[in-house]
Amino acid sequence: MIGQNIAQAAALLQRGEVIAIPTETVYGLAGNALDEQAVARIFAIKQRPSFDPLIVHVPDLRQLENWVKAIPPLARKLAEQFMPGALTLLLEKRDQISDLVTAGSPLVAMRIPAHPLAQQLLQSLPFPLAAPSANPFGYISPTRAEHVAHQLGDQIPYILDGGPCSIGLESTIVGFPEGRATVYRKGGISVEAIEALIGPVQVKAHSSSNPQAPGMLKSHYAPRVPMVLGNLSELIPVYSGKAVGVLSFRERFPEIPSERQFALSSSGDYTEAARNLFSAMRYLDRLPIDFILTELLPEEHLGRAINDRLRRAAAVE
Ligand code: TXA
Ligand code: MG
Repeated sequence: MIGQNIAQAAALLQRGEVIAIPTETVYGLAGNALDEQAVARIFAIKQRPSFDPLIVHVPDLRQLENWVKAIPPLARKLAEQFMPGALTLLLEKRDQISDLVTAGSPLVAMRIPAHPLAQQLLQSLPFPLAAPSANPFGYISPTRAEHVAHQLGDQIPYILDGGPCSIGLESTIVGFPEGRATVYRKGGISVEAIEALIGPVQVKAHSSSNPQAPGMLKSHYAPRVPMVLGNLSELIPVYSGKAVGVLSFRERFPEIPSERQFALSSSGDYTEAARNLFSAMRYLDRLPIDFILTELLPEEHLGRAINDRLRRAAAVE
C-alpha cells in the first residue's frame, strides 16, 4: 500500500516490518537498525549480498552521537554544514550497532535525511533505521513512490509516499581513514562543496574488484536495456539501423522520435539533471528499444556524480 500515514509507517516499523520511506536523495527500504531480523529481511527483499553494509538513519546529530564512538573534527564540520542532507559519514561504530548492519566493519555509515516525512518518522521512533536504496540490488535507485511500488510493492506492507525526491542522487559518502577526509561515493553533495568547507579531499569512488563500498562496484545502477556511452552526434548515425533511446544532458535530436529521448536539463542545470536522472533511465528502460545511447556531462559539481552513475550503468560486467 502507498500512503502518507506516518503513524501507520511507525507502527509497522515498531513491529519489525520493513517498509519504503522517502528521503530527499532516493527512497530507502527501511527497518529497525537494532533488530537483526528486520535487518536480515532488508537484505532478503533487496536480494543484497550480506557483505554490502547498510546506512543507519537518525533524525539529528545528538542521536547520531549515540551510535558512534567519536566524531572527528573534520566530520563534525561536515555534519554541521551538510546534515540534515545528502551526506553520509563513515564513523567508528558502538557495539549496539550489529555486525550484520556494517557487514563486519568497525565503521558504520550514518545519515540524517532532510526530507520532512523522513524527519517526522525518525523523530517518532525509539530506534534508528537501517535503509539501503529501495531497489533490487544492482538496479537503478527509486526517486518516486511508484518506482518502489513497481519493483518491490508486493514484498513490503507500506510505501510512505513523500513525492519525487528533490535531489535524486544517493548521498555522498565520506570517511576519515588516518584522519583524512575521503569521498567513497560521489553523490548529492558535490566534492566542490565539501572542499570549499574543509579543503582538498581524497576521492576513492572508483570501481574495484574488492570495493570499500559496493556502490563502488563497476556495474551498478544499471538498467536492463544496454547503455552505450559516447558522443551522441556520432553514436546516433552508427546505431541508425537499431531501435534506440537517447539520454542526453541538454540537447534533443530531431532524428529520434521524441518519446524515445530524454534531455536531463535543457538549460544545463546540474541540480535539475540529477533530479531527473533515475526517472529518465527507468522511463527509457521500459521502452521497446535495444540500446540506450547516452553521453557524459561536464566533469564538475553534480555532473561528477551523474557521470559516475552513467559509467556504471553502461559498464558491461
Ligand atoms: O542517499 C542514500 O544514501 C540512500 C538513502 C536511502 O539514504 N541510501 C543508499 O543506500 O544509497 P545503499 O545501501 O543503496 O548504498 C549505501 C552505500 C553502499 O555502497 C554501501 O556499501 C556503503 O554505502 N556503506 C554502507 N555502510 C558502510 C560501511 N560501514 N562501510 C563502508 N561502506 C558502507
Ligand atoms: Mg543502492
